[in-house]
Amino acid sequence: MSIQKPNITGMTIPRLQFPELLFVEDQLQLVFNKADSLIQQTCVSLLQAGGKRIRPLLTLYSGMCFAPLNPLMIKAAVATELIHMASLIHDDVIDESTTRRGKPTVSALYGNHAAILTGDYLFAEAFNILSTQQLLPSMKYLVEAIQAMCEGEVNQADQQFASSLDRQHYFSRISKKTGILLAACCQSGSILAGANSDVTALMREYGLNIGYAYQITDDILDISGDEDSLGKPVGVDLLNGNITLPILYLLDNPIYGNWLREILKTRKMTLLGSQSLREALISSGCIEQAYATASKCIDNAKACLDKIPSSPYKSALLGLADSILQRTA
Ligand code: IPE
Ligand code: IPE
Ligand code: MG
Ligand code: MG
Repeated sequence: MSIQKPNITGMTIPRLQFPELLFVEDQLQLVFNKADSLIQQTCVSLLQAGGKRIRPLLTLYSGMCFAPLNPLMIKAAVATELIHMASLIHDDVIDESTTRRGKPTVSALYGNHAAILTGDYLFAEAFNILSTQQLLPSMKYLVEAIQAMCEGEVNQADQQFASSLDRQHYFSRISKKTGILLAACCQSGSILAGANSDVTALMREYGLNIGYAYQITDDILDISGDEDSLGKPVGVDLLNGNITLPILYLLDNPIYGNWLREILKTRKMTLLGSQSLREALISSGCIEQAYATASKCIDNAKACLDKIPSSPYKSALLGLADSILQRTA
């Protein structure tokens, strides 16, 4: 079990790589065991299918950079995964996705009604844990993150097929959808370790920047990834008219830009249209361009850790940042 060489590429067994996650896993299991049998039924597959557990990992390791692991860090980490799972269940309703973590989604199996309520239950359970443990700063960061996530999603829906979207808006959207939650995890872990406010701000900045890179690679994988290793459908963004970074680069491309604008004007995307768009995104180099931008975000994230004392946990966070660019799952 090494924590020196974290690798989330095709990450299916993070719990063996990062043994501390086993505590989180145990408590997640307890949460589901005490839930009503219908809720258990709807969530069990999502829980057992795994997931990379990046948010709990960030919470624990951001804390362990400054103090030994403590039970409150574990509680906060569990809350982050519950919030994340809730957001995935709701996201799959919004995106009409039928698979997640290699299994049918809650909405595909039980319908949207059950999926919305199950997601709500998990949000509520996260706040049950945070309030029972009186983790008020963590609660504040996580509430902010959930509100940002909702704003990011609403904003994305509002801007479907909008060729006028610019990069600044895209970055604002992905920080809301993904970055602020990862930032909140890091902030929450470090504050529970007693870190001072300057250091906690650096950890937040690290989380925000890996969040940018994480969502950019997610957006790339939606175009060029493999459905089996991702465990979720690809091409969803293209079909839904979500303007992601590779698309923004293609809009600037002298050969494809006008062609793409014409497609977006129709405000619908056929399967065939999305396939030719995918080819164009790959052959034009826009995917590489988006990777290069994600790579800059990773450099920014790593630079935030410059002033953090050396430890195996800091090394793990640096390695985690690098592995985001290689991820296939
Ligand atoms: C998926 O998150 C949603 C995004 C923010 C891109 P993850 O890629 O962390 O999903 P799991 O938890 O590993 O399934
Ligand atoms: C992540 O966006 C949204 C969340 C905040 C959960 P996506 O819609 O791109 O996530 P995936 O690709 O379905 O995991
Ligand atoms: Mg989705
Ligand atoms: Mg996606």
